[in-house]
Amino acid sequence: MNRLLFFIFSFQLFITQIYTEQCELTLNDETQLTFNTFLQAKKFCSSISLPTKNTRRIILTGRLVDYTTRCKRSITDANIEIIHIQSDLRSVCHELHHPDSRGSYTLSTFVTIPSTERLFLRITSPGYETVLKEIIIPSSEKRQKNIILKWQIALTPSQEQIETYQQQQGRMDSTIDDLMSKMTLEEKIGQLNLVTVGFDVTGPIVSENVDENIRLGRIGGVFNTFTPKAVRPLQELAMNHTRLRIPLIFGYDVIHGHRTIFPISLGMSTTWDMASIETSARIAAQEATADGLNWVFSPMVDIARDARWGRISEGAGEDPWLGSQIAAAMIRGYQGSDLTQSNTAMACVKHFALYGGAEAGRDYNTVDMSRITMYQYFLAPYRAAIDAGAGSVMTSFNEVDSVPASANRWLLQDLLREQWKFNGFVVTDYTSINEMVDHGIGDLQEVSARALDAGVDMDMVGEGFLKTLNKSFSEGKIKEQIINQACRRILEAKYKLGLFDDPYRYCDDSRPDTDIFTNENRLAARDFARRSFVLLKTDRKTLPLARSNLNIALIGPLADDHRNLIGSWSAAGDWRQSVSVREGINKLVGSQTQILYAKGSNLVEDEYMLKQLNAHGGEIELDPRTPEQMIAEAVEISTRSDVIVAVIGESQGMTGEAASRVDIGLPECQKLLLKALFDTGKPVVIVLMNGRPMTLKWEQEHAAAILETWFAGTEAGNAIAEVLFGLYNPAGKLTTTFPQHVGQIPLYYNHKNTGRPFNASQFTDKYKSRYLDIPNEPLYPFGYGLSYTTFNFSSINVDKTELRGDSDRLTVRVLIRNTGAYSGEEVIQLYISDPAASVTRAVRELKNFKKIYLRSQQSEEISFVITTEDLKFYNTNLDYIWEEGDFIIHVGPDSVNTQSIRVKWLK
Ligand code: NOJ
Repeated sequence: MNRLLFFIFSFQLFITQIYTEQCELTLNDETQLTFNTFLQAKKFCSSISLPTKNTRRIILTGRLVDYTTRCKRSITDANIEIIHIQSDLRSVCHELHHPDSRGSYTLSTFVTIPSTERLFLRITSPGYETVLKEIIIPSSEKRQKNIILKWQIALTPSQEQIETYQQQQGRMDSTIDDLMSKMTLEEKIGQLNLVTVGFDVTGPIVSENVDENIRLGRIGGVFNTFTPKAVRPLQELAMNHTRLRIPLIFGYDVIHGHRTIFPISLGMSTTWDMASIETSARIAAQEATADGLNWVFSPMVDIARDARWGRISEGAGEDPWLGSQIAAAMIRGYQGSDLTQSNTAMACVKHFALYGGAEAGRDYNTVDMSRITMYQYFLAPYRAAIDAGAGSVMTSFNEVDSVPASANRWLLQDLLREQWKFNGFVVTDYTSINEMVDHGIGDLQEVSARALDAGVDMDMVGEGFLKTLNKSFSEGKIKEQIINQACRRILEAKYKLGLFDDPYRYCDDSRPDTDIFTNENRLAARDFARRSFVLLKTDRKTLPLARSNLNIALIGPLADDHRNLIGSWSAAGDWRQSVSVREGINKLVGSQTQILYAKGSNLVEDEYMLKQLNAHGGEIELDPRTPEQMIAEAVEISTRSDVIVAVIGESQGMTGEAASRVDIGLPECQKLLLKALFDTGKPVVIVLMNGRPMTLKWEQEHAAAILETWFAGTEAGNAIAEVLFGLYNPAGKLTTTFPQHVGQIPLYYNHKNTGRPFNASQFTDKYKSRYLDIPNEPLYPFGYGLSYTTFNFSSINVDKTELRGDSDRLTVRVLIRNTGAYSGEEVIQLYISDPAASVTRAVRELKNFKKIYLRSQQSEEISFVITTEDLKFYNTNLDYIWEEGDFIIHVGPDSVNTQSIRVKWLK
């Protein structure tokens, strides 16, 4: 009785903080409600009630976050208790759970309906106020067997904790105040200078006199140098030979893994698996920090709609909502919950902003778009990364509204700092200050001053700051206060990384052996790779391949290749360590199956292309045989085989930075090979390796199956073998549209309707938005991907068709059944259309998804809760609002093949 009174009393006292808007984090993607993933409870009950037919299961899922950090920090150290109190006060039951390492929880408990007890959720965490909330089951849900409640619980630090934060902030401020009071203007400008020294060159200029400049205090950070052995001497120069002993920050392009290489970023996005994406970033940070680094130039979150652009491979595709989930997951992975840990690294979100909008898909080209398009379709992932706590931002090479990003005050000041409250530091991209001379906005002195004034804190490689800021200051063109501010932000980043406590904390010689390229990391890489594959076509009989008694012709320039598997931007990855498809298959089934191999063709034969690729490390060697001889060998082994596996695609250098193409099909020599293979009449399974959406219409018509594997990383060959032979059922879904023809580009699912939409059933309609020569439709739409099994979607069920106001909620349910013979995963996607609004809207927009695993013939009901947040868009004043009216909800396995229902939502 006393206990009950205590709970009820405390319920009045404690502030319940279940925020959904101020602290928005979307969880559905991360917490998959497969019924075996519940956190196990420890139970303390004074009596036990047995289940009856009125027993309902309540599933509580969400994440614990620190409210004061705008929910950027997850809370992992907490007790989550579900407390049942019988109304007759006779029994109390506590079920104790803990969140997982990402602060997420998925709990389940049972209640009897009608309820004879009250149910509370209590969260206690050291340093935070206790949260107590009564769990009230919405009456609309009471008939469901499983009642799902999603709560993002924001904890407020206790007074004691607030004081600790304040003290930490105070300590940082006073350390930096003290240091800056001793710094000369030159030394402050030196902190703003980032140089490249060491292993990689990614621009036309490289840094010189680095040692001497470090000694003179003219360098704040170094990138492209790693390993404790290489980093330590540079840090020693800064610590032992400079006047003020300010440590250097060490950065690098850790994009999809550091030494253990994961699938290229586009491939990671096609997993639609936030836990894997976050873990991949966590492992990358673990390896990078063991290798002397503390700053990673990732994630790249540029939305891209143009497959010609080579850097489409580095991003998460075309959708802003999905891109935002991925951006936040990457930040959590790299930075963890504590940047001072020696295994977490500061992230750098890039390229701010709109870099993916380059005209004609040509890298570094001009970008021009309306503000409303920026806000609605391009900016969200940057914002999500910043909200997740990204410590730094990299500017982009392009212009935004006719002012290059690196001198764009609106972008770096008004939007980034004022609207989005970013408090980290801004670094330029490689020499992008100097490049503003070519953009045509002034000479080096002028553009450097403009960059600083606009909000750039650190100058990558170009030394515009180093060479001109002093002069600009003495001529009264810039104020000392702006230099101070930039310098302070760099010093704060170093402080947050713990470098002032121990400048060598990332130089532990013992860590490379224990933390890098471990078996665990390779296993994780193999799993991410399998998850990233997208089955584009299947005839439903050829794949998966039998593991014995099958004669396989393994053919193609990438079938026994190592060089290309790790893709572009593969950091410190060593392609020699990668597993080729031939090795993977031999290891898996070589003893039970006959595998004949032939290269069949070169990767590329076009001289113009070859020269470019080989000038930048392509290492593409032409086979001494003629194309005819190579094809003849391939055809000969094919005729002796049951099935042909053709491993073909792009070379790694055909995508990535400065790697745009106008023809996004397979190179001609590979097409000739394919044609000969198709002509044998044997089933051809195409295993594609590439870094962009390609045009594959003819291949789609003739192949028995097509498996898109991107550049899958170190473990590519093992992962591909496991998928081909059915050890893992592919479940990836495209995050970029694959056009039928390059002329359709830009082609993306969330396009506008236009005033003259074309209806394919009225084929000869003239004055419609269409082409004369091919249909408008893509070859493979956004969200598309097949499986070895099949899934059936029931029609959509909604709990109401008319809603009112901000607090109303729409629950959408759909029953998914695995109707095929294999277990597998499906990504259930939810899209919303707003057919009449004050501004034109996309035909549909992704708003949520769930990835579930079902055994053959198993079913699961999936539900989504839609709130007015999901209806919001930017109007012409750039206010983020929703307007009343009709909305169409679509659910399906991709962006086209959906079931729909119309609802009305009024104010
Ligand atoms: C240029 C690229 O645009 C950027 O993504 C990269 O981080 C820098 N170079 C540093 O290598």
